[in-house]
Amino acid sequence: MRQKGIVIAIDGPAGVGKSTVGKLVASRVGYRFVSTGKMYRALAWKALEAGLSLEDDGRLVELARALRWDFPKGAGPEADVSLDGRVLALELSEERVSRASSAIAKLAGVRLFMKEMQRQAGLDGGVVMEGRDIGSNVFPDAELKIYLDASPEARARRRVGQLKEQGLPADYAEILDFIVKRDAQDSGRKNNPLKKADDAHYLDSTAISREEVVETIVGLFAAAAK
Ligand code: C5P
Repeated sequence: MRQKGIVIAIDGPAGVGKSTVGKLVASRVGYRFVSTGKMYRALAWKALEAGLSLEDDGRLVELARALRWDFPKGAGPEADVSLDGRVLALELSEERVSRASSAIAKLAGVRLFMKEMQRQAGLDGGVVMEGRDIGSNVFPDAELKIYLDASPEARARRRVGQLKEQGLPADYAEILDFIVKRDAQDSGRKNNPLKKADDAHYLDSTAISREEVVETIVGLFAAAAK
């Protein structure tokens, strides 16, 4: 067993609720929550600021290595991401950052840098880590692996609901199209594509609530952490 508990890996496509579910699970079991998507987003944001090509793996890795990465404690179980002392928040959910993060996530050097940082963050356990390749690549030795899925339509409907709740404009067809494209990019890439690890539990949340998903994972945790 690791020092602080087990590693719970949650992988799955964009917009499936990995962060919401992961944070709830982390709160329930008293673990930290790490969003690896945020790390890719942070580097993508910085690359856009610096005007770097999103295809230049070498320059992007140089940029990533030159930055000071910190993960200060946020309000809930999730740590914030801070680059050179600047805490990044809302800027990471901009659509241009979503697109750019998916683009740089294709690159082998960038992925290796992220993997090292993510392994450091989770090695001692006591962590819920979400992403695309946590169970298959970053922590193939995770004690509990979840692959969370939902149909693209269900994910688009939820996203529309969230945006409307925030009083923001939301176009279902546009959002569905964006989700389908990002799925194709994340699953179709050569380096560590989105895929279910052989030993991951598959949970389809299309027809069940977030609460049920959380209950199921907490149940699996109780068995895995014994
Ligand atoms: O999950 P999120 O949408 O925040 O992730 C942003 C992008 O980062 C994804 O589209 C994906 O391409 C990439 N990513 C990844 N591997 C991870 C986490 C995120 O390739 N473990």
